[in-house]
Amino acid sequence: MINPATKSPAIAAPLSGAAFATLATLLKTRSGLIVGQDKIYLLETRLVNILRKEKLADLNALAERLNRPGADALARDVVEAMTTNESFFFRDDKPFQHFRTDAMPRLVAARPPGATLRIWSAAASSGQEAYSLAMILAENKLAAGDRRFEIVGTDIARDPLARAREGVYTQFEVQRGLPVQLLMKYFKKEDTSWRISQTIRQMAQFREFNLLGDLRPLGRFDVVFCRNVLIYFDQATKTKVLEAMAAQMAPDGLLYLGGAETVLGITSRFAPLPGERGVYGVATVGNENRAALPLRSA
Ligand SMILES: C[S@@+](CC[C@H](N)C(=O)[O-])C[C@H]1O[C@@H](n2cnc3c(N)ncnc32)[C@H](O)[C@@H]1O
Repeated sequence: MINPATKSPAIAAPLSGAAFATLATLLKTRSGLIVGQDKIYLLETRLVNILRKEKLADLNALAERLNRPGADALARDVVEAMTTNESFFFRDDKPFQHFRTDAMPRLVAARPPGATLRIWSAAASSGQEAYSLAMILAENKLAAGDRRFEIVGTDIARDPLARAREGVYTQFEVQRGLPVQLLMKYFKKEDTSWRISQTIRQMAQFREFNLLGDLRPLGRFDVVFCRNVLIYFDQATKTKVLEAMAAQMAPDGLLYLGGAETVLGITSRFAPLPGERGVYGVATVGNENRAALPLRSA
């Protein structure tokens, strides 16, 4: 029910088991997100704006609406509202250092002049990861000779992607992880925000894409940053996504995961690089053409 004083929906009735099941199933099947009973507060806080917009009394009413035919756009809004889009430039630093000092020189040396190296930021959010990689490449472009780079940032959520394409960040966002000399070199102050330079912006393209979908249309990648998204998935979904990713990677390609993520116990299609946390090489699978392997379902 809408409280006329605050115009905000009161989250009145306790969430029924059936309504919880509707929401949890929708989130898992559409985005991989696992929501346990202990996360009901998260449903309440993240979905309150949708309740307000749709003039729904509570989550039970939302679940009921989602079960009606023609609720696809609403389901999509629910999925996007439940995503966690936090990101920052050069997050955790180490993976970016490894990319700069190890991956990039090695892959550049292994590719013929004129080749294009493809880099995928697989849960790109508002673009900080893709643009961090672009800045590294811009800073080291002489070393790449005439090889080209293509950075593809994808995400399931449209709002952060729109921000990524815009390339405008708040003062707070540019103060998190971005070295000041890169801020000065590649950003322009606009009132209270900072706009990334055209040079860096045009190095990355952003596309809406669900990691649970068919990855093959994305093509083959030399480097994949898939950071801080697998943590939200269950084991079977992690396996499915990682194995589909392995099939899209060059044999000498590299995968970077987030600090709380691993392939260990999840798939043998990637092998940790000795001495490097969170960096994985593609494991050899007999003589099979891995790109032709069918995607395994969860
Ligand atoms: C916490 S952010 C990570 C951003 C960045 N990779 C980083 O580490 O800073 C997680 C992102 O994963 C996206 N995401 C969640 N489920 C997804 C899915 N099934 N397919 C594609 N992106 C997804 C969310 O929308 C969110 O923007």
